[in-house]
Amino acid sequence: MTTRILTGITTTGTPHLGNYAGAIRPAIVASRQSDADSFYFLADYHALIKCDDPLRIQRSRLEIAATWLAAGLDVDRVTFYRQSDIPEIPELTWLLTCVAAKGLLNRAHAYKASVDKNVDAGEDPDAGITMGLFSYPVLMAADILMFNAHQVPVGRDQIQHVEMARDIGQRFNHLFGNGKEFFVMPEALIEESVATLPGLDGRKMSKSYDNTIPLFSSAKEMKDAISRIVTDSRLPGEAKDPDNSHLFTLYQAFASKEQSDEFRADLLQGLGWGDAKQRLFQLLDGELGEARESYHRLIERPADLEDILQTGAQKARRIATPFLGELREAVGLRSFRTTTQTAAATKKKASKGARFVSFREDDGFRFRLLAADGEQLLLSRTFADGKTAGAVTKQLQQGGEPDIRTEGDAFTVWLEGACVADSPAFADATARDAAIESLKLALAPQQD
Ligand code: TRP
Repeated sequence: MTTRILTGITTTGTPHLGNYAGAIRPAIVASRQSDADSFYFLADYHALIKCDDPLRIQRSRLEIAATWLAAGLDVDRVTFYRQSDIPEIPELTWLLTCVAAKGLLNRAHAYKASVDKNVDAGEDPDAGITMGLFSYPVLMAADILMFNAHQVPVGRDQIQHVEMARDIGQRFNHLFGNGKEFFVMPEALIEESVATLPGLDGRKMSKSYDNTIPLFSSAKEMKDAISRIVTDSRLPGEAKDPDNSHLFTLYQAFASKEQSDEFRADLLQGLGWGDAKQRLFQLLDGELGEARESYHRLIERPADLEDILQTGAQKARRIATPFLGELREAVGLRSFRTTTQTAAATKKKASKGARFVSFREDDGFRFRLLAADGEQLLLSRTFADGKTAGAVTKQLQQGGEPDIRTEGDAFTVWLEGACVADSPAFADATARDAAIESLKLALAPQQD
């Protein structure tokens, strides 16, 4: 069974070396595992909560997209997209908002910290707090639940949000699932072994401490930053203590075992800090120089990046669109046509159980095939008119063994070389195969 891994990157800044070692590099490594089905996205709706500078939002989305691609993310293997290109996400956010307990959100750390700050300053508790900040965890729950992610790699500060996603998803399942689990329960994945890099001053490398080393800006800027790494005042020739030097820690995060051993020995033998910084620069430049060039090539071709992200969005929406259709159905947001035809169909085909339900959309006609228990087995493609849609359902019912093709954890149904309908995305191959069995049963000729 494949494990679906999903994580979002808030697009407010420019990635630095600490983000690279702590999040980007391990995520790319994880995405190469054969049993991983990875979803990485730019959380640009989340960015709007923290930032009201449109230029900065725009710039950061571009830089983060280019960084991940330059760092080696293979977009054919993973699903890489912008949150704001998936309209199903804000729509699901609303469905979840309507079941999320306000009391649960009152307990969110980020919101509580803002309230505490206001209270300490003698202000109104909610001064300057937007509904965006308050609802942040619901939007994040929609990100995760939309794609039924099993694992969500995040920093420790985000564990609570993943727990809230479970809580909200469970509540939705309970209220609307009728015994069916719409949402998989996600787990936060905290990578213990991943490096938290020290910054120039030895504290954790972080934009808020202003102690970062830039990742892909330019060789000169990287060199300048390295020259500002704080060291002790031991002179060249005096022995240095590698274990108390964050310069050494930084070196180690990018070096092989042999390189680290050699560097350690040289420091113990009195290598000067100036030379040590030069060695660190050479190591980083060697490791990252090529990716830096590819980063700059990408940044110069924003239209190509746009195409890559649009393709990613299409891939994501192949899952999101039919799934959201099911969820809308579950909460009662159904076409009036569906409702009346369902009633009629239920009567007519009571013996058979499964039923076709056709409905109209702005751009044409479609149908769903629902199993006896109401589970959606198929959502058709769009047809120009109701007659064609009807002819297709007829052919499916009378056409003998259907042409079913699996595609990941979903499947498609074909007639005469054309794809006529898609299944929803199932949690795994087992669930998918069970649905294929129900489909065959539903389409098998009646024995009555
Ligand atoms: N809130 C996350 C952060 O700040 C980013 C994020 C948004 C995210 N949606 C997500 C992470 C969904 C994991 C899954 O780091």
